[in-house]
Amino acid sequence: MDKIKIGLIGFGTIGSGVVQILASSRKTIRQRLGAEVEIVKIADLDITTDRGVEVDSGMLTTHADEVLEHPEVDVIVELMGGYEPARTFLLKAVSCGKHVVTANKALLAKHGDELFTAVEDNHVSIGFEAAVGGAIPIIRSIKESFVANEISTVEGIVNGTANYILSKMSDEGCDFDVALKEAQQKGFAEADPTFDIEGIDSAHKIAILARLAFGTPVNFDDITVQGISGITSGDIECAREFGYRIKLLAISKFDGKSVDIRVHPAMIPQSHPMASVNGVLNAIRVCDGWMGENILVGHGAGSLPTGSAVIGDIVEIARGILSGAKDRLPAQSFRKSEMRSIPIMNIQEIDSEYFLRLSVQDTPGVLSRISGILGDHSISILSVIQRGRAESGSGVSLIMMTHRANEKDIQLALKEIDGLNVVCAKSNFIRVEN
Ligand code: HSE
Repeated sequence: MDKIKIGLIGFGTIGSGVVQILASSRKTIRQRLGAEVEIVKIADLDITTDRGVEVDSGMLTTHADEVLEHPEVDVIVELMGGYEPARTFLLKAVSCGKHVVTANKALLAKHGDELFTAVEDNHVSIGFEAAVGGAIPIIRSIKESFVANEISTVEGIVNGTANYILSKMSDEGCDFDVALKEAQQKGFAEADPTFDIEGIDSAHKIAILARLAFGTPVNFDDITVQGISGITSGDIECAREFGYRIKLLAISKFDGKSVDIRVHPAMIPQSHPMASVNGVLNAIRVCDGWMGENILVGHGAGSLPTGSAVIGDIVEIARGILSGAKDRLPAQSFRKSEMRSIPIMNIQEIDSEYFLRLSVQDTPGVLSRISGILGDHSISILSVIQRGRAESGSGVSLIMMTHRANEKDIQLALKEIDGLNVVCAKSNFIRVEN
């Protein structure tokens, strides 16, 4: 019986999930692969904490080089996260002719060009299914199932922490801080939740998906990123009244000329399938002219869902090794020679419908002054709600939905509106994705 030998760097949440699944699914994997998958060395700076899985203590090391330079290792699995030293370790593995599997979305989003080039130049394979959407097979779907599809849109809910918080705010009417605290207590949100709640994690993931779907490198810094920390329970309540739910969306769309790529909270109709994807679940929607719309839903995080995606990659690479077809799939979905640099659309160029939340004095003529400014910027109002009557000195909320308008016009109009002496606080807007 053949054996495929694995070296693991990073023995945290996902690493221990990989060890657990490999131990429990030994027979299933052998039945499907026709070979054994065996971990021979595991490196982590902390090798004393109990990970809840059994490993031979001789297998553990604090020196990553013992994994990278292990002569028997066929596949290096990097699950430590972060930019460095993960980048250095993966480049070293690849230059030594080892295949690699990683769940490191931040690294792929920021240093994808360098890593993919190294993989292609060294004729090894890279698996990174676990980097986006945990157990959802979106990378494999784009690379293999949608190979004949001119993808126009890849978008979705790709951060479980943010989705949990927004779902809780929607279902229980609680404030952002309360929902975040509960997410932390339940272990869904990190002690420092910045990457998740400020949209950075989602931006890493959409940078990877856009690269594969459209065949273009994406400069991470060109992505407009806005998180959910400014969303109030009032926004969520108004969204509900208008028939919408607020979700943190990672969006990428290709119109044949440029890529519109952005992460921000968005209102989506309550009837849309993604509106009912709640809690820590993720959903990714892929559209094209042949299949129409395809939505994949599942667990985007967690030891076992993400661990199972890592093992799917290991087995795919093992099949390549055993059959001698290790370069079968282009690392970036498109062949290296076919990758092109597609311009990224400036957010100011997009058209959308908008939800506007203004705080204004409740006096005659205010609405006409505001609608006048919106009209001057070619923004047409779909509906308006005013909330309550003001106590003396404080503002009332004026909520508006617009017809499709240009982002630059919206930003200019709100700047002008915020300069009016009848406006009590900075105005806010949320894009509506219908
Ligand atoms: N922190 C991510 C999330 C999971 O909350 O979805 C890992 O990508």
